Amino acid sequence: MKLWGGRFQKSTNQLVEDFHSSISFDGRLYRQDILGSIAHARMLGEEGIITIEEAAQLIIGLEGILKDIETEKIEFSMEAEDIHMNIETLLIERIGQTGKKLHTGRSRNDQVALDTRIFVKEEIQKTQLLLKDLIKTLVDIAEENAETIMPGYTHLQIAQPITLGHHLLAYVEMFKRDYGRLADCYKRTDIMPLGAGALAGTSYPLNRQRVADELGFGGVSKNSMDSVSDRDYMIEFLAAASLVMMHLSRFCEEIILWANQEFAFIELDDSYSTGSSIMPQKKNPDVAELMRGKTGRVYGDLMALLTVMKGLPLTYNKDMQEDKEALFDGVDTVQKCLLVFTPMLATITFKKDKMRLSAQKGFSNATDLADYLVRQGMSFRDAHHVVGKLVSYCISCSKLLEELSIEEMRTAYEDGELQIQEYINEDVYDSLKLETVVARRSTIGGTAPNRVKEEVKQSRNWLK
Ligand code: ARG
Repeated sequence: MKLWGGRFQKSTNQLVEDFHSSISFDGRLYRQDILGSIAHARMLGEEGIITIEEAAQLIIGLEGILKDIETEKIEFSMEAEDIHMNIETLLIERIGQTGKKLHTGRSRNDQVALDTRIFVKEEIQKTQLLLKDLIKTLVDIAEENAETIMPGYTHLQIAQPITLGHHLLAYVEMFKRDYGRLADCYKRTDIMPLGAGALAGTSYPLNRQRVADELGFGGVSKNSMDSVSDRDYMIEFLAAASLVMMHLSRFCEEIILWANQEFAFIELDDSYSTGSSIMPQKKNPDVAELMRGKTGRVYGDLMALLTVMKGLPLTYNKDMQEDKEALFDGVDTVQKCLLVFTPMLATITFKKDKMRLSAQKGFSNATDLADYLVRQGMSFRDAHHVVGKLVSYCISCSKLLEELSIEEMRTAYEDGELQIQEYINEDVYDSLKLETVVARRSTIGGTAPNRVKEEVKQSRNWLK
């Protein structure tokens, strides 16, 4: 018999039974559900809504069920529909009549809101820990590579030299923001909805604060209708997770590029790469590619839930049962990705010589030659033009700017109006050194090794 079967003459159609049952996925919420029920039962007893003895019986029964689920002694039943009714049915089977008192002053509508809020809070914290591990790894590698020179890109064309440490700290900033977004989402998830009943509140004198305290919630919800129909906290989590994935995906794309033979900036560890079934020479960055792909999944989860919620009238509608699979998939995907990304990153070998060579060959010091001319008194616009001409000359004779003799620099640029002789001296070569170029960019946020070391310190403080 269904827990809600009283007013029905016929049993549920088998297809419908199958269609609306959620136990196959919401069984995952058994612990949150039972902890919520224990807190509810204890409060019912304390407030005299049921007797203390009845409350004790309920709690013992629920604890027994929790233990048995954890030791895999229980199989859920599809007929009992969802996790809430599975547990209640088991409780009644085990402790008899008293079990039927558990649902006093409660609805599955506020119950499922409670369970999922506990779940999201826990998963936010797990995700934050994974982000911290990743940030720590990034900071460690950034510190080791505060002076490692590589090309920086715009339009994926070599732009200016940067330090690898600086590049990695860019991701530290992203992941710190992600961490903050999750912390922010946590605050709004940390609200206890039980007591909202089906939608309008409850006629029993429930002590909502007591339940919130036992379950470690920061506050109780202020509107029963909102309490049972709000899924913002899940959407916020998935939005934050989508940004984590977007950042991971950009990083993965760079790893894929860097591992490519044309770049050859890194070597992925064998244990984080895979081969080809036909081409014996292949070593592929599959892990990074798969993560780039999984980003789409998490965006999909976010879109699914936004779309489920769109246009729903207040309050609870069964549509909302569709929230869980998207939420679970988003949680699992982002956590799995973080879990594998961090050790993959930690085991990368950076080919510093190759990175440096690439920066050198790409005229990444051209801006600095222009800046040199400006320091000698030329206007920046003229200097930009002159250096452009010099680069063009270099390309024609396969030379680097620093390989030109002073004489060549002075004469390569022919223009009646601009006399550049007076602007170029021997000290130009020092300005062109990549070490000089990066060291000059030492203002806050710059790529200079000193600045990177300072930012590493700040990030280590943040990690504490
Ligand atoms: N399994 C349901 C869900 O996930 C629980 C709430 C059901 N409430 C109801 N009145 N049908 O949303």
